[in-house]
Amino acid sequence: MMEIMKDKNGRILDVGAGTGANGKLLKQHGYNNIDALDGSKEMLKIAKTKNLYDNLIHLILKGGVRIPNVENDTYSAVVMSGVFCPNHCDSTIFPELIRVVKPGHDQHGAINCNNKSMISAGDAN
Ligand SMILES: C[S@@+](CC[C@H](N)C(=O)[O-])C[C@H]1O[C@@H](n2cnc3c(N)ncnc32)[C@H](O)[C@@H]1O
Repeated sequence: MMEIMKDKNGRILDVGAGTGANGKLLKQHGYNNIDALDGSKEMLKIAKTKNLYDNLIHLILKGGVRIPNVENDTYSAVVMSGVFCPNHCDSTIFPELIRVVKPGHDQHGAINCNNKSMISAGDAN
C-alpha cells in the first residue's frame, strides 16, 4: 500500500473493515482519511470506539448493490482483507469498487488469495 499510494491524505475505503484491523495499520503508517464499510453493525460498533474511521457505512456489499451517498471517483484506494472468501464477497462487487475509486494513469490492483486480501488504488499518487 505504501508503495502504490504515496498521498497519505487520499481517501481510502476499507471494505469489510470488521473491528478495524486495516484502519489501525493504515493509521500507523500515516493514512488519516479512511472510511469503513461492513455488513455487520456489531463490527462497526467496535470499530467506532477506536476512532480510526471518518465514516462508517453499514452495508452488505454484493453484485448490483450501490454504496449509498458515495459519488463516483471518491476514493484514492480501496483496501480489503479477510473478505474475499466463501459467504463473504466475490468478484461481483468489482464494478461498484471501480465506480467509487478515482480513475488515474497509475491504477493498481492486487489480490492475494492465500491471505485473502486485496488492494486497489486508482489515482493513488
Ligand atoms: C474476517 S473479517 C475481516 C475483518 C478485517 N478486514 C480484518 O482483516 O481483520 C470479515 C469482515 O467482512 C465483513 N463482510 C463479509 N461479507 C461482507 C459483505 N458482503 N459486505 C460487507 N461486509 C462484509 C464481515 O462482517 C466481517 O466484519
